[in-house]
Amino acid sequence: MRSPTQSHLSYDEIRRLITAQTIGAHLVLREEVDSTNALAATLAKQGAPHGTVVIAETQTHGRGRLGRTWISPSGTNLYVSILLQRPSVAALVTWLPLLTALAVRRSVLEVTGLVTTLKWPNDVVIHRNGSLRKLAGVLAESTDQMVVIGMGLNVNMRAEDFPEDLRLTATSLLLEIGQPVDRARLLSEMLGAAEQAYNDLLHRPEKVMAEYRDVCHTLGKRVQIDLIGQDPLEGLAETIAPDGALCLRRADGRLIEIRAGDVVHLR
Ligand code: BTN
Repeated sequence: MRSPTQSHLSYDEIRRLITAQTIGAHLVLREEVDSTNALAATLAKQGAPHGTVVIAETQTHGRGRLGRTWISPSGTNLYVSILLQRPSVAALVTWLPLLTALAVRRSVLEVTGLVTTLKWPNDVVIHRNGSLRKLAGVLAESTDQMVVIGMGLNVNMRAEDFPEDLRLTATSLLLEIGQPVDRARLLSEMLGAAEQAYNDLLHRPEKVMAEYRDVCHTLGKRVQIDLIGQDPLEGLAETIAPDGALCLRRADGRLIEIRAGDVVHLR
């Protein structure tokens, strides 16, 4: 049985609410998929246009960054993939997931008033009792011509819906503001914010990159970077490079650029 925090997404309602011109002009809503990113990549191969949006109520194999699984219970959260033409400037491609996180942040602020920050590269996080809790994550995957940007946002999940190992590090909007949030409205705000951020990236990149740097909580912090199959690196997160990489100042004074890895903010 569905709880009061669950309601079905309706294609017609989403269609009515979307104000973005391109993002979501072609919309696919499914009850269950393995992964919205996987479906979006398949649709890209079949000729789906730039701006196609794939949404699902649940994912059986939701993918997270660095080979992890994205927990995707039915009817409570947002699982969304956006299909985009690959920008011709390579350095802009790597900004797409960062700017999607920025769009999620803007939409959460607009719909709930909740202020979130970003943990590099593209986690949307909330500070609670001195620790960071993850609200949303973004996974970018490329096909030949296109980029699939997948976004998972915990909307109406209750504490007991999270696996035990995530209860201290993850959160949802319901847990933060104490009331359920209208997923269709949040989705339409997010798609509108994403369209604006992607247009800014192509036409006014400095503006949107500056906004990212402003709300990136990682900058100025001492951090540990966990890398797959290598020893972790420590340093000061100094700035973001023109291609979105994190510039880490090491104890020996060297500045190195990190392009993939998990950031832990040190005290
Ligand atoms: C992360 O690990 O932080 C990234 C999580 C991305 C999850 C989303 S949910 C929609 C889309 N489809 C997937 O399989 N993954 C992304």
